[in-house]
Amino acid sequence: MISSHALHSLSKVIAKQHSSVVYPGERREELDSGPPSEWLGRLITRGESHVIVEAVGAETAGIVTWQSAPWDTTILGRHVARLDHILIPDELRRGHPALVERIVERTREDLKANGIEYALARIPAEDVVLAQAMEVQGFKIVDGIITFACQASTTRPAPIPSLQVRGATDDDTEAVVTLAGSAFSRDRFHQDPEISDSLADQVHREWARNACLGKVADVVLVAEDDEGICGFLSCGRHSRYPFTEDRHVAVIGLVATASRARGRGVASILTQAAVNWALQVGAKWVVVGTQFANVGAARLYQRCGFSIVSTSHSLRVVMPVNNHAP
Ligand SMILES: CC(C)(COP(=O)(O)OP(=O)(O)OC[C@H]1O[C@@H](n2cnc3c(N)ncnc32)[C@H](O)[C@@H]1OP(=O)(O)O)[C@@H](O)C(=O)NCCC(=O)NCCS
Repeated sequence: MISSHALHSLSKVIAKQHSSVVYPGERREELDSGPPSEWLGRLITRGESHVIVEAVGAETAGIVTWQSAPWDTTILGRHVARLDHILIPDELRRGHPALVERIVERTREDLKANGIEYALARIPAEDVVLAQAMEVQGFKIVDGIITFACQASTTRPAPIPSLQVRGATDDDTEAVVTLAGSAFSRDRFHQDPEISDSLADQVHREWARNACLGKVADVVLVAEDDEGICGFLSCGRHSRYPFTEDRHVAVIGLVATASRARGRGVASILTQAAVNWALQVGAKWVVVGTQFANVGAARLYQRCGFSIVSTSHSLRVVMPVNNHAP
C-alpha cells in the first residue's frame, strides 16, 4: 500500500515531467493546476498495470508501472510489455545513487517473472542516469524521438496541380497499407536488430490498416494524384495532462509519401490538412513525433509551423524465456 504522502511525492514527478513540455502559445503556470495524485492513485489501483514499488527505509522511493502490450505481442510473436511510468523523486535519487539501478533491476526481474520477452520504455532524453541504469540491465536504445507541436488553426495550403487531399474511404485501405509497408525505415522497429525488416514492414502495414479501420486513429487523410494514392497521414484526438476539458490534442501517427512523389509538398499539404482537422474536432494543439535520425520529417514539421517541445529515448530489453544453455 502506498501512503498518500508517497503518492503525492511521486505524482509531483509526473507533474514535473509534464510541465517541462510547454506547447506553443501555452503558459507554464497552466500546467501546475491540480495535484495529479488522485489520477496516479487510480492508475495504480485500477489493476491493469503491474506496479513495482521500491522503498528506502519506510519511505516509498519510486514506482514503475508496466502493462502487457497485446497488439505488439501478436505482431512480434513474443510476449511484449510497455513500461508506462518510471517515477523516482529527484530528492531521493540524490541521497541514494544506487536507487535508480535497483528499481530498474527489480523491474527487469518482475518482467521476466511474468514471462515478458521484450519490454519497451520511452524516457525523457535528459534522464541520462536512468538510461544508463537501464543499459546496465540489458536495455538498448532503439531510437530517439523529437516531439513537435503547433496550435490547431485554419491553414490554406497552396494547392498542388493534379493532387487531391481527402479523407480515406474503405476503398483506399489496401493502397494505404501497401504504401505503409514500403515507406518507413528509421522507426524503432526497423532500427532494432532483433526485428527483421520484413517484420518491421508488416508492423507498419498492420498499424496503417488499424488506422483505416478507426482502431488507432480518428481520421486518415490521403493524397491522390493521376497515378493513385501517393501519400497518407493518420491522426487521433487525445486528452492532455492535466486532464481538463479544454486540453485536447490531435496526435499525428503515421505520415508517408510514396517515393515517386516525394519533394513535391505532398506531406506538407497532408500535415496542414491535419492541422485544420484538429481545429474542427476541438483540439487545441497538434502533436507529432519523429526520430532524431529523420531529418527530412523534422524539417517537414518545422516548415509546417511546428516547434520542438520535447525529446525522448526508446529503450527495449529482450529476455529469452527458455534460456537453456547447452
Ligand atoms: C518525410 C516524408 C513524409 C516527406 O514527404 P514529402 O512529401 O517528400 O515532403 P514535402 O515535399 O512536403 O517536403 C516538405 C519539407 O520537408 C523537408 N523535407 C522533406 N524531405 C526531406 C529530405 N529528404 N531531406 C531534407 N528535408 C526534407 C523539406 O524542408 C521540405 O520543404 P522544402 O522542399 O520546401 O525544403 C517522406 O520523405 C516519407 O514518406 N518518408 C518515409 C516515411 C517517414 O519517415 N515518415 C515520417 C515519419 S514521422
